[in-house]
Amino acid sequence: MTRGLFISLEGIDGAGKSSHIDALAGLFEAAGRTVRRTREPGGTPLAETLRTLVLSEPMDPLTESLLVFAARREHVVQVIAPALARGEVVLCDRFTDATFAYQGAGRGFDTGVLATLEGWVQGGQGQGGALLQPDLTLWFDLAPEIAAERLAGARLPDKFEAQPVEFFRRVARGYADRAAADAARFERIGADAPREAVRTQVAAAVRRRGWLA
Ligand code: TYD
Repeated sequence: MTRGLFISLEGIDGAGKSSHIDALAGLFEAAGRTVRRTREPGGTPLAETLRTLVLSEPMDPLTESLLVFAARREHVVQVIAPALARGEVVLCDRFTDATFAYQGAGRGFDTGVLATLEGWVQGGQGQGGALLQPDLTLWFDLAPEIAAERLAGARLPDKFEAQPVEFFRRVARGYADRAAADAARFERIGADAPREAVRTQVAAAVRRRGWLA
């Protein structure tokens, strides 16, 4: 059977990642693959309920971390691991790198605790019983100042989007640190390019892995 593929898309709010999931799904579908599009926090009814709370209610950073990992556990067990076991392509709008970037770097919460939760939630759920991690993470990298301009006036900001640019500078550094620590998993996408050029970069990153002709 075809091996499942787990691809996450990451970046600060306003980096434009979400608009590229459809195009990427189309490429895999054209190649005959079954694609499962999903997002975090979310992806199951319970996890979507937790998402609403996390994105709207002010809360202690440990509470916030526990809720995003609780949502992730449901998502991994009910959706991601079964789809991978069926050989599908899972395209996930954010995963655990977002927790290290937002709760860890952004809020300054203890990354040792986050790593422990990551082990509990993703342990033994990967292919071969290893820690479940994306096979590829597309990191949409954009200067926080430009992302803030793109977000301004777009719609009513949620709890994170309403944060000042300094918060997103820390989040961006969090992503850069995660990418440096696991360079083989990450592909940096220059998200300041025009949309068509960003789409080309995304397709090239996936082709380089040999997953698309
Ligand atoms: P986002 O993915 O940007 O969706 P939308 O395009 O609908 O705004 O929103 C999710 C928000 O949740 C984003 O601000 C990042 C935040 N988040 C965390 O703080 N921690 C996490 O672990 C995850 C997955 C997301």
